[in-house]
Amino acid sequence: MRLPIPVNARTAVIALLGLALLLVFVFPFFAPTPQSWLATRTPATTDVIDLYWAMFWIAAVIMVIVEGGIIASVILYRQRPGHTARAYHGNTFLEFTWTIIPAIIVLGLSAYSFRSLSALTNVGDAQMTIEVTGRQWQWSFTYPDGLRVNTEAHIPVNTKVRFNITSVDVLHSFWIPKLSGKMDAVPGFTNAIWVHAVESGEYLGQCTEFCGIGHADMLAKVVAQPDADFQKWLVDTRRAQQEVPADQIAAGKQIAQQTCVICHRMEGTGTSPNPAAPNLSRYGAEGPLLPELRALKDAGDRDWLKKWVSDAKSIKPGTAMPTWLNTRGGTLTEQQVDSVVAYLLSLK
Ligand code: CUA
Repeated sequence: MRLPIPVNARTAVIALLGLALLLVFVFPFFAPTPQSWLATRTPATTDVIDLYWAMFWIAAVIMVIVEGGIIASVILYRQRPGHTARAYHGNTFLEFTWTIIPAIIVLGLSAYSFRSLSALTNVGDAQMTIEVTGRQWQWSFTYPDGLRVNTEAHIPVNTKVRFNITSVDVLHSFWIPKLSGKMDAVPGFTNAIWVHAVESGEYLGQCTEFCGIGHADMLAKVVAQPDADFQKWLVDTRRAQQEVPADQIAAGKQIAQQTCVICHRMEGTGTSPNPAAPNLSRYGAEGPLLPELRALKDAGDRDWLKKWVSDAKSIKPGTAMPTWLNTRGGTLTEQQVDSVVAYLLSLK
């Protein structure tokens, strides 16, 4: 094949080498990549970045010396008119030198690595701990008070935060490049890392261990914000998780108007259509009314009312309250029971 411009082999090699160097070493610094770990220094990443650059420059100097020596030899001592190329074998001084110098370099870098590694794995003095759980295919974060969120975690800035990482199914790997190194998520084990954001902002990450078909979508985001904002986020998120959607309450009301109202008064004061059935018009504020239900709720059972609506006789044998859950012989699906419960608890 003929190229439109004359390209000799030397030009092609130099051009390709230059392109490779650009791609590998230069472009990453200028590309606005949100997951470039080299661009942002935090207490947990600065050692890694320094170690990277130390290795890079040492390797660069070695490359220049070795490649320069090869290229110089090839040019200066090549076979040509007036000069005969010769092969050399064995040079004790040179062989000692090029064994001992690399050995010293490698030992030095190892010492540097070990020092960095012990700082990176020291999670002992973290000011806050978040449990991170990997599952196919989502990360979830559990805060000390039990709040659990998926995919997006918030942390306070200028705080050393410990992540306890585990998995409930297969191997995953948790990595927020700008904030820390990678850590494997292994079922049955907990591995800890720490992060320390010094600037507010969003830090993107993702699963970096192939974990099945949804691996590429197993993203994570850490949002670092000032402590006051972080505390507000905690409160707002907790509240949002407790709020029952209005359409679920509306659906529950519709069902209750065909079922509960046969015996109970649901609105206003006065006795119910069945005088033995309590007036439920303020149930969300006053309930539970039965001692058996009160005991369930006090024992911390969050499903106390759901259990009652589903199958009251299992709680109070002989009660006139019908069984509603279809799997127990009633006429309502579990979802419908949930809606009725949401409606009853909204009555205040
Ligand atoms: Cu989880 Cu890949």
